[in-house]
Amino acid sequence: MTEQSPVTTTKAKPVLPDAQTVTSVTHYTDRLFAFRLTRPQSLRFRSGEFVMIGLMGDNGKPLLRAYSIASPSWDEELEFYSIKVQDGPLTSRLQNIKVGDQVILRPKPVGTLVLDALLPAKRMYFIATGTGIAPFASLMRDPELYERYDEVIMCHTCRDVAELKYGADLVASLADDPLIGEFIGDKLRYYPTTTREESPKMGRMTTLMENGTLAADLGLPPLNLETDRVMICGSIGLNNDMKAICEAAGLTEGSNSSPAEYVVEKAFVG
Ligand code: A2P
Repeated sequence: MTEQSPVTTTKAKPVLPDAQTVTSVTHYTDRLFAFRLTRPQSLRFRSGEFVMIGLMGDNGKPLLRAYSIASPSWDEELEFYSIKVQDGPLTSRLQNIKVGDQVILRPKPVGTLVLDALLPAKRMYFIATGTGIAPFASLMRDPELYERYDEVIMCHTCRDVAELKYGADLVASLADDPLIGEFIGDKLRYYPTTTREESPKMGRMTTLMENGTLAADLGLPPLNLETDRVMICGSIGLNNDMKAICEAAGLTEGSNSSPAEYVVEKAFVG
């Protein structure tokens, strides 16, 4: 029998500014987890954009970082995919959130990985490493992507197979998704690779593009200015190397105000 604690008054938790409630948390590895938050009714965003989210710091000031919204714009909730950095100021704490906890969310979405930043073409390449798949998790669930492109190639490089799981599960779920499945048809192709553990396809995406392996595996022509668009999201190293590959193929960097052939954004770290 447990001792009954005397019930007096329950102290309500202080309400944080712009606070949202955690509705689910999924841990994938000791370095990666995803979570979902309630969505403010007024929050509108374009697939691929990010918002600032975080927790209250010990000094009473919000500790915020940029996080891509991983959920589609039609979802009632917001989903995020995060790294856990053991000594990271935010993620060392954020990794411990539980359902019912509060997370601060500044509802001002921005970002360059949006469909409007690219000129029309036939084929879209999404190139991600690690948690850089988050904005593409949103975009892959956006019907407009499939209205604009005949073919979407989702390339994801991670250290090991367990780190691919979030993206692999999502892609697997899309074909049967009652909302988005019919838009996708057979347009979405998934190309996962690992660099530090044996898997069906090994190597960095950049290497596999440069040496022609990706093109050979998928039966695609080399990267081409007329037909191809590229969105890049990962480490600074990946972003720089992919930019060089795009520029070498004649593609130029686009933006909201000046759409072109590729766009790039840094995945959140720390
Ligand atoms: P590698 O194992 O060769 O470093 P991280 O977990 O460190 O963010 O890395 C995620 C994945 O991104 C790893 O598989 C890593 O490969 C790969 N990666 C890191 N830098 C680059 C780069 N410049 N180009 C392509 N892939 C990269």
